[in-house]
Amino acid sequence: MTTKKYETVLIEKQDGITWLIMNRPDKRNAMSPQLHLDMDDALAELAVDPQTQVLVLTGAGEAFCAGQDIKLYFRANDDAPAARAKARHASNQWRWQRLSTFPQPTIAMVNGYCFGGGFTQVCACDFAIAADEALFGLSEVNWGILPGGIVSWNIAQTLNFRDGMYYALTGDTFDGKKAKEIGFVNFSYPKAKLKEETIKLAKKLMEKSPAVLRYTKEALRAVRFMNEPQAADYLNAKSEALRFVDREDSRSQGMKQFLDEKSYRPGFGAFKRPKATPA
Ligand code: COA
Repeated sequence: MTTKKYETVLIEKQDGITWLIMNRPDKRNAMSPQLHLDMDDALAELAVDPQTQVLVLTGAGEAFCAGQDIKLYFRANDDAPAARAKARHASNQWRWQRLSTFPQPTIAMVNGYCFGGGFTQVCACDFAIAADEALFGLSEVNWGILPGGIVSWNIAQTLNFRDGMYYALTGDTFDGKKAKEIGFVNFSYPKAKLKEETIKLAKKLMEKSPAVLRYTKEALRAVRFMNEPQAADYLNAKSEALRFVDREDSRSQGMKQFLDEKSYRPGFGAFKRPKATPA
């Protein structure tokens, strides 16, 4: 599958990992309408790309993402309702709908500044890993708007109430270490080790069955909004469905290798996959 070229997005593929890079480094990767359109297209393509086993979202240069482009996303569209609506749609579509339902595991690698609208794609990814030096901020309050798009909804779900309210109302920044402390990211590492540690996590995920990973992430996301009987019914049906879609027949393999061959212990790692098959 050929990799498409975009004006504001870079795609690099290596060893099963696809690096999806917001690429406006001179503007600290602030999100222009063009970037939203490019990302929307890129994610639609990558979702069916057999080479993509894990997706890592990051930013070119020193920043992860400086939020919405205040000039091109906001001011330029103030008197252009149709253009504004299109940009808003593409913006929410890629940052939430496409990313949070992406079939393979997704990691936000936050390499630097992450402001405002940039929070949405961090929340949409399955994992987030930050540089200790990265700087996060809900800066909307500083220039006279509220965290719109779906940022307020994202932070209400991902941060605890006190932290969400504090950072949204003060606009105070916090670094990668603090982001780890408050549970906004999974891990924080010195910037020099960020990529290496991200690759380690990606490799760990690639040892598992892609179908099992996909159904597990879908299940965790879906049950958050269900009550217990709904969740029990859904998980039962989802488990049955997994057995039909899993081309590697992971469940039988896992049982056989543990019970009959005694070649591994599920408590300490995955069974040996016979061959890597895309989900
Ligand atoms: N919208 C539009 N342009 C932006 C931008 C944004 N969100 N963030 C950065 N830029 C542009 C700057 O205007 C500047 O453009 P120029 O070179 O044409 O003058 C360029 O990116 C570099 O920004 P600069 O402020 O000089 O870089 P810095 O490294 O000193 O600071 C930030 C980086 C991200 C701290 C700072 O640019 C900033 O506060 N940006 C706004 C962040 C924000 O509030 N985002 C939320 C939007 S909802």
